[in-house]
Amino acid sequence: MADPVHTIDDVAVTLTINGTRYKRFVEPRMLLIHFLREELNLTGPHIGCDTSHCGACTVEIDGISVKSCTMFTVQADGASITTIEGMAGADGTLSALQEGFRQMHGLQCGFCTPGMIMRAHVLLKENPNPTEEEIRFGIAGNLCRCTGYQNIVKAIQYAAAKINGETFVEAAQ
Ligand code: FES
Ligand code: FES
Repeated sequence: MADPVHTIDDVAVTLTINGTRYKRFVEPRMLLIHFLREELNLTGPHIGCDTSHCGACTVEIDGISVKSCTMFTVQADGASITTIEGMAGADGTLSALQEGFRQMHGLQCGFCTPGMIMRAHVLLKENPNPTEEEIRFGIAGNLCRCTGYQNIVKAIQYAAAKINGETFVEAAQ
């Protein structure tokens, strides 16, 4: 296949995304969220605000949660990135977090969900056994306009329990 058309100002970047290595030429001003969605057709990361408020664009970059609308693609050169598309197993088995959101009804419209799951993914790596307060603090940069957060917290607690080999028991109301 012919090389994609690029201009003399474009910059070569190499990124590993969901385990696949990509080499592309990009405009220096291209935001990572636009690269993911428009160049690679990874449309799981959403654009909710483009001003770093909502967290819908959150991905994992080298083990850190990043709002991909806040970063230029060239800044991610050489990085390893995971998006929501990389969370399920190769056979389609849901990750613990995806299962938790499904089982605990952690979404309504689903717009915030990819970013919320990617943030929770890093949160549980940083703190595998978070308290409810730590979960709420940990997802404070991700906005949800539908759920009221209660079931999102339960979904993350469910995933934490599953990852730790425990059975999730809902706290009494
Ligand atoms: S689109 Fe990136 S934080 Fe809202
Ligand atoms: S489920 Fe609709 S914004 Fe969170």
